[in-house]
Amino acid sequence: MPTEFISLAFPNASTELSPLPSPSVDPDYLVRYARALDDYDFDYTLQPYDSGGFDPWTMGATIAAATKKLKVIIALRPNTVYPTVAAKALATLDQLSKGRAVVHFIAGGSDAEQAREGDFLDKAQRYERLEEYIRILRRAWESAEPFDWNGKHYQFKQHSNRVRPVNGTIPVSVGGSSDEAYRVGGALADIFGLWGEPLKETKDQIDKIYAAADKAGRPASDRPRIWVTFRPITAETDDLAWEKAHRTLDALKGNQAAGKSIIPLAATGTAPQNVGSQRLLEIAKRGEVQDRALWYPTVTATGARGASTALVGSYQTVADSILDYVDLGCELISIRGYDNLNDAIDYGRYVLPRVRAELARREGAVSKQEGEAAVSKQGGETTAIVDG
Ligand SMILES: Cc1cc2nc3c(=O)[nH]c(=O)nc-3n(C[C@H](O)[C@H](O)[C@H](O)COP(=O)(O)O)c2cc1C
Repeated sequence: MPTEFISLAFPNASTELSPLPSPSVDPDYLVRYARALDDYDFDYTLQPYDSGGFDPWTMGATIAAATKKLKVIIALRPNTVYPTVAAKALATLDQLSKGRAVVHFIAGGSDAEQAREGDFLDKAQRYERLEEYIRILRRAWESAEPFDWNGKHYQFKQHSNRVRPVNGTIPVSVGGSSDEAYRVGGALADIFGLWGEPLKETKDQIDKIYAAADKAGRPASDRPRIWVTFRPITAETDDLAWEKAHRTLDALKGNQAAGKSIIPLAATGTAPQNVGSQRLLEIAKRGEVQDRALWYPTVTATGARGASTALVGSYQTVADSILDYVDLGCELISIRGYDNLNDAIDYGRYVLPRVRAELARREGAVSKQEGEAAVSKQGGETTAIVDG
């Protein structure tokens, strides 16, 4: 499978660096943002979920209508939509977008956040419910034959779904870093989403996800594809990028101190319940920079509330760092910056082409080697080499 790129598409000009007070959706801005991702050859955009935020379904449908290739990932917490309704909504979006719908599941990492929308299950129960939910979606997408469901969390009779996904099914992603996340995602997900950790820790997590997939009886050819998320801070040279990184950190801290951040200062002092954030904070204690360019002060400054590890460096350094993760087996690379739209355009102009050119070069080199091997085996002429 190819290496693909994900980014967020934001609905207004508010950023963590320059937060606007109570920003509402600016439809023109959202369309411009989405088209920029499409034009600069990003493959997906995530529409995230939080209890107080904009609705990802309507945003996703708007993005799909404004773009041609960009796939739309709807973040979904099972407590917010009944599974048969979600199955139809996703299949409808898939038809509207000609096969570009993807769903990203969030079991729910915080009891307090879940309680804001009436969900009082504990985390183990939330993952158990997620497992049942994914099975119902797949069943509903499979055929229009009526079926009953008599599970622990859902029971219904004779549901029949006439809205089929364009390609028979819709990619299902699961995000998280707990054992429950590995178990459910390893068994059922097409894609498994991680936050950016150092190479060694990322490899450990991939091994656990693959082990869970093996345990669930999936063949090696059907393991979840790995998605990894960063917040790159990049510029023409490494020095300029580091200056930008420190300006970014100052702005994050300044906005927090002034009470302008969406992550209040008080929240950064309390321990997060989700394992993904706990891991980031633990790794941050080891030092500011890990591996080639993975930077942690943005993690500590925001209490690891969300994807927060930066990759700092020139366009080439950031491209090389991304390639380190590709070499590890990560196929979906999510990058979004702090200066949202400007950073997305910079990545599109300077980072994506570098990563793709290197991957194409390697593929060419492999084809060339394969061609040479085939030719020497046949004792033929080297002009038969398949290479552009
Ligand atoms: C790539 C990725 C994207 C995520 N998107 C969201 C999101 O949009 N909304 C949200 O509440 N949590 C999001 N999360 C957080 C986790 O899914 C969440 O904390 C999980 O339910 C429990 O985490 P744990 O298994 O690590 O403890 C995301 C996580 C990852 C890795």
